[in-house]
Amino acid sequence: MESRTHWQRVYETKTEDEVSWFQDTPAVSADLISSVAPSGATVIDVGGGASRLVDRLVADGYQVTVLDIADAALAKARTRLGAAAHSVDWVAADITQWQPVHRFKVWHDRALFHFLVKPEDRRAYLRLASTAIEDGGFAIIGTFASDGPQRCSGLPVRRYDPEDLAAEFGPAFEHVNDLRHDHATPSGSVQRFQFTVLRKLP
Ligand SMILES: C[S@@+](CC[C@H](N)C(=O)[O-])C[C@H]1O[C@@H](n2cnc3c(N)ncnc32)[C@H](O)[C@@H]1O
Repeated sequence: MESRTHWQRVYETKTEDEVSWFQDTPAVSADLISSVAPSGATVIDVGGGASRLVDRLVADGYQVTVLDIADAALAKARTRLGAAAHSVDWVAADITQWQPVHRFKVWHDRALFHFLVKPEDRRAYLRLASTAIEDGGFAIIGTFASDGPQRCSGLPVRRYDPEDLAAEFGPAFEHVNDLRHDHATPSGSVQRFQFTVLRKLP
């Protein structure tokens, strides 16, 4: 099934907390973002889905863009935010084909990159990230860890250690920080994630 069709169907048929990746409070992502960029900075959440991260970032004064392949996901987040949604740039696009019109201080991705199992899709993503992140800006990438699940949402994933992820991003980025996070899914299981913070060299 084509990727957009898959994700549209997921968000059209499941409630917010029926998806395994749901977080009531996306604290790890919010804390990592605030550790590298002050309020007012530009942040893009790629594959942001219907995540509540945007609520927190808007409340903290960031200039936020949320990109997702499924406009049904973006619609959910927009509705939840109400009037505050007007301050957000919502982009319905496939990250492997998108062309940004400006650059971002922070590129955040929780659980999109690990779905890119084809090398050409990862190459497209990384090319885009390299041009869309400001010099001195940051990539914060959360993926399933090497001991995390092998599939999600019925799709295969590629799992990473921080070293593998840094190697994917290449020498234009330096490793800043990484941490492991055990995500408790709404159904009560645990998914092992790793988050890596990389800085784009000027
Ligand atoms: C596991 S969900 C994570 C959602 C969100 N980041 C969170 O933490 O709640 C993966 C998200 O990536 C989006 N996605 C998958 N492939 C994509 C692509 N090629 N381009 C843009 N978004 C994509 C899906 O629609 C979905 O919202």
